[in-house]
Amino acid sequence: MTDKLGTIKDPDDLSGDAFLLHSDKRGPSAARANHQGLEDHAMTPTTAAASTNPRPASSGRPGADTAGSRGWGARTGFDHVYDQPDPRGYFQALGSFEYQTPHHAQEVFRRLVGALTPGNAGQRVTVLDICCSYGINAALLNHNLTLADLWARYTGPETTTLSVGELVSADQVFYAAHRHSAGQLARVVGLDPARNAIDYARAVELVDAGFAENLETTPANAALLTTVRDVRLITITGGASFLSPRTFQPLLDNAERPVWVAAFVLRTSSYQPIADALARYELVTETSTRTFPQRRFTSPAEQRYAIDAVIATGHDPSGKETDGAFHTTLHLSRPPTDIAAMPFNTLLPDS
Ligand SMILES: C[S@@+](CC[C@H](N)C(=O)[O-])C[C@H]1O[C@@H](n2cnc3c(N)ncnc32)[C@H](O)[C@@H]1O
Repeated sequence: MTDKLGTIKDPDDLSGDAFLLHSDKRGPSAARANHQGLEDHAMTPTTAAASTNPRPASSGRPGADTAGSRGWGARTGFDHVYDQPDPRGYFQALGSFEYQTPHHAQEVFRRLVGALTPGNAGQRVTVLDICCSYGINAALLNHNLTLADLWARYTGPETTTLSVGELVSADQVFYAAHRHSAGQLARVVGLDPARNAIDYARAVELVDAGFAENLETTPANAALLTTVRDVRLITITGGASFLSPRTFQPLLDNAERPVWVAAFVLRTSSYQPIADALARYELVTETSTRTFPQRRFTSPAEQRYAIDAVIATGHDPSGKETDGAFHTTLHLSRPPTDIAAMPFNTLLPDS
């Protein structure tokens, strides 16, 4: 990473590989179908006219997981850059606060795909990236690129003066030039209600398929379900606070094989409702003890909010949120047999 994305001190960099079992006391549920009464924390993103200035979240409307989580407090919202025709506004707005979760996720997601590949009968592993936005995780998974490269591209002189159409054409060439060889590629499907972002990700061929849907509010359509029937890994960065069990239920009901779910989640909110829902599909959630800086706070008020929220969830903000940035933890949910065969510590020794 460049200095730009590496300036936040991460006191956990040397914290080793210990991890917690999040829901290990729960036995596998009797039936995959018993999903009545799943908690509903539905939140609907909104979009607004293009501007790269962060806005205070207001009136209970979610801003972003980049900004916060359930219970919006004094967090800054970035939802105005989620549904633009290209990612330049997103990178300008989030880059200003050194948003870096996709960087931390890159190596983790690559390792998970690598671990799933041998058992996939020679087929590409299908990854469903929920809250995929402009396809950032897909770019980092399947291309010889870093988040710093993307930040430089979308905020630098190379693309500033291009029209949207010119940028899309240039990006098709750019990503093709950096794409891994065919045998190394994951098949990435993107899901995000932001239609423009999905259209961009599809146009530049970052995702193999993309769906502009909000499963919190609308049933999954047949095309989405058909496309992700063979999903092996669900990934989430920067958006977990928008999601509830409602999003996962139709996807897991539909999956032909057990699915791994890897989510980077802000410490300001609890992942427990989703972990509980995944447990009903016989997925056990392990949580890293290491934390990952997400982005700098936009204001002292936002920092105070985050520190209070982290304490309320039973964690210690010292040396993390107190040092000026939101932090996430990684939650990885897998079947117990996979956990036994590939322990978390072995699979992700740096997490
Ligand atoms: C902060 S962006 C994260 C984008 C990308 N994953 C990253 O880390 O850079 C949050 C994304 O969540 C999306 N989102 C909001 N509600 C959603 C929902 N119900 N289902 C899927 N995505 C949602 C937003 O549209 C936005 O693109």
